[in-house]
Amino acid sequence: MRLIRHFKYATSSILGVVGLLTLSGNLLADDGYHAQYANRFEVLPAISPIPANNSLTESKIELGKMLFFEPRISGSGVISCATCHNPALGWTDRIPRATGHAAQVGERNTPTVLNSGFFAAQFWDGRAADLEAQALGPIEADIEMNMSLDDAITRLKGFKEYQDAFARAYGGDGEKQITPNNVAHAMASFQRTLNTPNSPFDRYLQGDLAALTDQQKRGMALFADSGCNACHSGPAMTDSYFHVIKVPGSTDLGRFLVTKNEADKHAFKTPTLRNVAVTYPYFNNGGTATLEEAVQVMGKEMLGREYKKNQVADIVAFLHSLTGEMPHIEIPALP
Ligand code: HEC
Ligand code: HEC
Repeated sequence: MRLIRHFKYATSSILGVVGLLTLSGNLLADDGYHAQYANRFEVLPAISPIPANNSLTESKIELGKMLFFEPRISGSGVISCATCHNPALGWTDRIPRATGHAAQVGERNTPTVLNSGFFAAQFWDGRAADLEAQALGPIEADIEMNMSLDDAITRLKGFKEYQDAFARAYGGDGEKQITPNNVAHAMASFQRTLNTPNSPFDRYLQGDLAALTDQQKRGMALFADSGCNACHSGPAMTDSYFHVIKVPGSTDLGRFLVTKNEADKHAFKTPTLRNVAVTYPYFNNGGTATLEEAVQVMGKEMLGREYKKNQVADIVAFLHSLTGEMPHIEIPALP
């Protein structure tokens, strides 16, 4: 008995020492890249910044989720936010330009809403400052959901389930709480939970040197050394800032449409590169089908570089390591 117990202690302490050694080995060892490059990137946190005027609560998130999947706040009764920001397709639609009300095709590619709580400006031209300001636009846009806000509010008020859900989220008389402002705040709250932490790249940054392949490490180094992260910076790999570029096939005036500044003609917000491997096609007009082409365009237009084939392949392999854990959500059963 004694012997056995003794043996148990011995093995567990040996295992402990081995564990410690591996851990410190991992932290101290370098793969030729980590020490030089890891500090030039940021880990993606699981939760994005929460604004002071919209606390993140469970009941708001639940309500925002219902509204996000709710097609009855569209003129046709069949289009919801999730029609274009489809959870099965990287929370976008994987078509070049969005198709909305009465099958009209818009001017721009649908960006993913994943990690959108980390962006300091919303839309390709930044015309909304945050998710609260963004949320009501698509409902009213005639080529998206094509419904007046008044009609949308009236329709929601017709459901006891929504009256209850607004009461849970905002307190007081549920019917009175069904306002555009509260709709926007709930949708923003839901979207703030749609983050994708723990990608192979994040695990690498945190010290798991085996999380990236050698090719991905070469791609990471080339990405940083070329200056790609001058703009694709921060946790979501975007500076949320606007840069002039004419991507293939685009005539869109971009940021100019908001500011009317000559210097903003054809300027677009840097898109996130998180999950970029699953959010094709690319650029503001969705006119570029593959990551290989997108990387070539960026190298040439933004940095004046012509990459060799194997260099493009390395960067693309690196971009694949930015696909994180997709949010686990239960699709709501609507009233
Ligand atoms: C018809 C397709 C369609 C529908 C429906 C739609 N969106 Fe979008 N969404 C887009 C497109 C296209 C853009 C980019 C538009 C632009 O930049 O001018 C966009 C942009 C966004 C952005 C900004 C992301 C970024 O990277 O800047 C957010 C957030 C968003 N939508 C959330 C929503 C919400 C919430 C709803 C429902 C109320 C919704 N969308 C409904 C197509 C759609
Ligand atoms: C000067 C800022 C800047 C630099 C440097 C830069 N980018 Fe971009 N990137 C942008 C902007 C702005 C867009 C959107 C352009 C558009 O659609 O009109 C973009 C778009 C992209 C896209 C398409 C993403 C999508 O969802 O549509 C990829 C991929 C990309 N960049 C990768 C790179 C790589 C790789 C490098 C380095 C070779 C790089 N970028 C350098 C600003 C920059």
